[in-house]
Amino acid sequence: MSEAPRAPAATLVIFGAMGDLASRLLMPALVHLERDGLLDGETTLLGISHGESDDAGLREKLKSFVEGDEAAWRRWEQRITYLRGDFGDDALYDTLKAQLQGNAVFYLATAPSFFGPIGEKLGTSGLLDEADGFRRLVVEKPFGTDLESAQALNARLLSHAEETQIYRIDHFLGKETVQNITVARFGNALTEAVWNNRYVDHVEITAAETVSVGTRGKFYDETGALRDMVPNHLFQLLALVAMEPPNSFDAEAVRSEKAKVIAAVTPIPPEDAVRGRYLAGEAGGKAVPAYRDTPDVAADSRTETYVALKVAVETWRWHGVPFYLRTGKAMTARDTEIVIHFREVPRTLFRNTPNSELPPNRLILQIQPNEALTMEMAVKEPGPLVKMVPASLAFAYADAFDLGHRTGYETLLYDVLIGDQSLFQRADQIEGGWRAVQPLLDAWRSGEPDDYPAGSTGPQSADALLARDGRKWHDIT
Ligand code: BG6
Repeated sequence: MSEAPRAPAATLVIFGAMGDLASRLLMPALVHLERDGLLDGETTLLGISHGESDDAGLREKLKSFVEGDEAAWRRWEQRITYLRGDFGDDALYDTLKAQLQGNAVFYLATAPSFFGPIGEKLGTSGLLDEADGFRRLVVEKPFGTDLESAQALNARLLSHAEETQIYRIDHFLGKETVQNITVARFGNALTEAVWNNRYVDHVEITAAETVSVGTRGKFYDETGALRDMVPNHLFQLLALVAMEPPNSFDAEAVRSEKAKVIAAVTPIPPEDAVRGRYLAGEAGGKAVPAYRDTPDVAADSRTETYVALKVAVETWRWHGVPFYLRTGKAMTARDTEIVIHFREVPRTLFRNTPNSELPPNRLILQIQPNEALTMEMAVKEPGPLVKMVPASLAFAYADAFDLGHRTGYETLLYDVLIGDQSLFQRADQIEGGWRAVQPLLDAWRSGEPDDYPAGSTGPQSADALLARDGRKWHDIT
């Protein structure tokens, strides 16, 4: 049982309830919240989809990824109902209006093209009116496909709902170790004291995946690695690493600091970016066909499956410190990590030692898999000579805590119900992310990504991007 208070009762209306997200991530998270005593017994789920089905059909579908937690599932099951409806049809909203009372959360687990239309219909039908309880709108990603479309979607939703009613999901923010970045930084004098351009040389943010595009060809070929991962997930990690300390955990305080730092990112010039596309190979223990041979991917596709960027954050704290970001599919290992590389110390003292190449200090925030925090330092090798070797002060989460099985959506759903927007993206953060990558979206309408074999660390041009600055990527392991 959790020490946190129970969330208030509400009806959770899921648009697209028969889809993958609802069964794979949302339902298991709701069951975990129920198990931990965090939900009110009156909380119900109303699933909407266009297909022929009924309560039993929806329950069956939503159960597919619930493992263990039998008692919690049984308590949930009775509170799930199905509503068949067409998202574009006014009749659906009339039915909802007649049926819903009190608090409600509208979760748009649909294709992105429905976000605007559903938000609009909820608004015009009065369903977002908060007269007899809260009414909140949860919007999944991708939020827009470029700056202009993101601005248009924000404007459309904000003409029917207040910013305080809109919860834009970035599921990376539901990860425990992502939330820990704030504590690692601001809860420790030791780290925050050196967290600036006087001591930090450069920062690396990596989200490497072994999975290939697989069955997601249709979505992915229109999206690509840049849109799929950078302005949202990687920029959220960057914001947590780079933002100034907020005055409190109040959502607006935190979101304003993040928005400020994202706004300070210089729009990325194409010469500071590399795009890659995997060829056939083996990744994650599986044979992977070349990206262009993936089902639903155009044979002449120029979509990238890998991106590496050099990003400048023009604040007093970070001026002159490059942030190198990279992400890719079908890579050698699954590894999401942030590496803070500290500056070298003056070598005078060590100039006559056998290895004047001092191992640099690095702080590694390992986000997944194997959540951990590691500080790499130089120590003296025992013996008559002053020989420096690297040593690690390592903390593995699994050694100290039971992380259990979580989807990452537990915190996010709970926060929606209690009305805490800290872990959700505000309109200005979303637009700031798109603004920074817009020069690449424009430039990459032509040209081709560089090839890399599936199962590798990415294209050679990504290594060259760092070699140009006399640096190397941290190993992906
Ligand atoms: C999603 C992307 O938002 O994040 C996927 O659409 C990607 O392409 C996924 O695989 C990565 O998330 P996680 O939690 O598996 O690291």
